[in-house]
Amino acid sequence: MSLASQMLEFFRRRSKAVLGGGEKAIEKQVAMGKLTARERIMTLLDADSFHEYDLFVEHKCNDFNMDKKQLPADGVITGTGKISGFPVCIFAQDFTVAGGSLGLMHARKITKIMDHAMKLGLPLIGINDSGGARIQEGVNSLAGYGEIFFRNTQASGVIPQISVILGPCAGGAVYSPALTDFVFVVDKISKMFITGPEVIKTVLGEEISMEDLGGARVQTEITGNAHFFAHSETECFDQIKKLVTFIPWNNRKKPDAFPPRPPKAQYDIEKIIPVNPRQPYDVRDLIRSLCDDSDFFEIQEHWAANIVIGFARLNGETVGIVGNQPLVLAGVLDVDSSDKAARFIRFCDAFNIPLITLVDLPGYLPGVDQEHAGVIRHGAKILYAYSEATVPKVTVILRKAYGGGYIAMCSRHLGADFVFAWPTAEIAVMGPEGAANLIFRSEIATADDPDAMRQAKVQEYTEKFANPYIAAANGHVDAVIGPRETREFLIHSIEISRDKQETRPQRKHGIPPF
Ligand code: HXC
Repeated sequence: MSLASQMLEFFRRRSKAVLGGGEKAIEKQVAMGKLTARERIMTLLDADSFHEYDLFVEHKCNDFNMDKKQLPADGVITGTGKISGFPVCIFAQDFTVAGGSLGLMHARKITKIMDHAMKLGLPLIGINDSGGARIQEGVNSLAGYGEIFFRNTQASGVIPQISVILGPCAGGAVYSPALTDFVFVVDKISKMFITGPEVIKTVLGEEISMEDLGGARVQTEITGNAHFFAHSETECFDQIKKLVTFIPWNNRKKPDAFPPRPPKAQYDIEKIIPVNPRQPYDVRDLIRSLCDDSDFFEIQEHWAANIVIGFARLNGETVGIVGNQPLVLAGVLDVDSSDKAARFIRFCDAFNIPLITLVDLPGYLPGVDQEHAGVIRHGAKILYAYSEATVPKVTVILRKAYGGGYIAMCSRHLGADFVFAWPTAEIAVMGPEGAANLIFRSEIATADDPDAMRQAKVQEYTEKFANPYIAAANGHVDAVIGPRETREFLIHSIEISRDKQETRPQRKHGIPPF
């Protein structure tokens, strides 16, 4: 064969493979408001940066007439590329080819790019649009998912793993994302479930739509499985592009530093917290008043909103911020907010991102529902995560820091490097009213005027404990600082902690209260 005809054959084969499931299947995909797998990669990555591998991989299944079916690229596109110059490994499942279902060779393509990501120390981005294990391939497709889960787990804490859900994803196509660090979903396009509506109808006789079962809103507002919600695929890709600017390529690196910028003048730190300690405020405004350009990149915004987590920069350096949110449930810790914070703390610790904790909470949420939902076990996760973390940890107590909440929110006792308190801080075992009612119960009951006595005792307790000075006198707080000094104290603390070294006992691994 001449070179010219060899080239023709090559172009013919390549264009056929690149077309995926064919024009009709692509039309169906587009009609659903979805980009194709290839368009997704091209939209997310820098222009001309994508290098594709394994385009000609084919499935090897002969059962159920599969020997007569050609599945271009075996339904998944894999390769390497760049996002704003940041190198990444990437795969995108192609729903137009057998519903993006995962057979053994499809899985092998994914595990190969995962192995590259691990060896090269690069983030892995997985675009999932798949009906899960390919039914015709039986145990071989299950094996494929098992091999992916194994690698997701090995890669955890070594390279950042980002999952994007862009279609109806079932079974393994949601369990692999669940093992990764960040899950992105898009309104009306993303669906995540272990078993789809058809199986639910067959087994349980219940009818439910895919959207109500596991749509983007369900996964970001109710379950907490997804971390970022977008209205369109392009908005979702913009979110990913922003996320990668805050994180390092791997756990041996630090995030890239950016030019320092002051916070925007509209966020005046002294005007955010109300004078009345019972009045709520939005802790995100406080974060914006502290960080560079007032740019706070919030994670899991719509779930467990009583705690706020996300990335920001201080003097150009990435920091992870955890703050109680007085606007929601007075900022208490509960089952979900503990899970949310603990996972984020572990991400920051694994990837060399200093932690800033902003404290204002009345404690853990009391009640039968929380106790029965396991608040002891879940609440312990945040204690574990902060105690385990060795990245620089800086805490600012703004207002209330009561009881277990005081300890849990990165107190000195859990290893904070620096603890600062505002003059408005109230550090006590519980709020003055509750405390006075308990410890002065008999004095109040036997007083001529119980209400006056209660008020006097509340006042006495407030003066004694509801301030930062006893904690400061005992060294539990390093400095009492004014709101306007806070940014400078934070920047200084992070700057001088750059070479912080802290060791933990030698062990195979700890046993966190999963
Ligand atoms: C083989 C599949 C498939 C699968 C979809 N297809 N899922 N082929 N194996 N798992 C094929 C369909 O036959 C169809 O082919 C094409 O993909 C498009 O699927 P539709 O059903 O027409 O699309 P839609 O109505 O949008 O529904 C999508 C869906 C549904 C919700 C994902 O297809 C579905 O429920 N699939 C099965 C989901 C599932 O139970 N998977 C196994 C999970 S177990 P044609 O040729 O008609 O176009 C698992 C093991 C790991 O993953 C467990 C981890 C712990």
